[in-house]
Amino acid sequence: MKGIILAGGEGSRLYPLTLSISKQLLPVYDKPMIYYPLSVLMLGGIKDILIISDKDNIKNFRNLFKNGSMFGIKIQYKIQPKPEGIAQALVLGKNFIKNDPVCLILGDNIFYGSDLVKNLKLAISNSNKYASLFAYQVSNPSSYGVVKYNSKNIPIKIIEKPKKHIGNYAITGIYFYPKGVADIAKKIKKSKRGEFEITSINNYYLKTKKIKIIKLSRGFAWLDTGTHENLNEASSFIYTIEKRQGLKIACLEEIALNNNFININKLIKNIKKIKGNSSYIQYLKKIINNVV
Ligand code: G1P
Repeated sequence: MKGIILAGGEGSRLYPLTLSISKQLLPVYDKPMIYYPLSVLMLGGIKDILIISDKDNIKNFRNLFKNGSMFGIKIQYKIQPKPEGIAQALVLGKNFIKNDPVCLILGDNIFYGSDLVKNLKLAISNSNKYASLFAYQVSNPSSYGVVKYNSKNIPIKIIEKPKKHIGNYAITGIYFYPKGVADIAKKIKKSKRGEFEITSINNYYLKTKKIKIIKLSRGFAWLDTGTHENLNEASSFIYTIEKRQGLKIACLEEIALNNNFININKLIKNIKKIKGNSSYIQYLKKIINNVV
């Protein structure tokens, strides 16, 4: 399975933070935001990844991750000329996806919880035949794509930013598709808000009964980073859990090591290249000394 991270959008709700830098490079406590979605793909075992961003920011992402070899993965980059909706990422990624299933994740979505890996593996194992989405109960469904269930609890439609209350289950920003999704993405039309909506693609799979909607449980955290308040809350959340457990969330080197993408010697070599002694570096050193 291939992975795509869409790190686009203007981040206008975060002005002036996003005037000169992509939203997905802003810090969420101790690491850049994009570490979180990249960690999710890596936890799913996905090693072949495309990052899509605008022309000005793509070089910043490249500076951050290079070709991904420090994590034992392969990262490529693609420019999104104009932000015209999430579904556009699948069209831009057509040559990268080739004839494989793909997981598309938004660069500003944070997922955290003990069921994460189980659910990722489930969605990946569905992907030879089915698309999979993660749905999560929220208190503000009108900000998202929302699933409408019938009286038998069967999903019948996904509505983007519903004005009327149709339910509390939002579709999160991680989408798994079987092969061929780029051709479906090419055919959809722009919505009234002028975007190629990911919801249009999801409704296609729903209508053709080729979709599984996996509900994330109440103990799970799916966090938003769209506003100053949300960003602050996400940072506090990461800080609180990391401090309590002494474990880091989305430590890419640790995930790479646990998944055997790299070995300990590679990690030791990588750390030698890093300057400074931040808490992140101290954590990596602890891993090496096996005291985590
Ligand atoms: C987008 C999608 C929406 C989804 C949300 C998840 O919303 O259109 O369906 O629920 O991401 O973060 P947007 O970021 O365009 O407001």
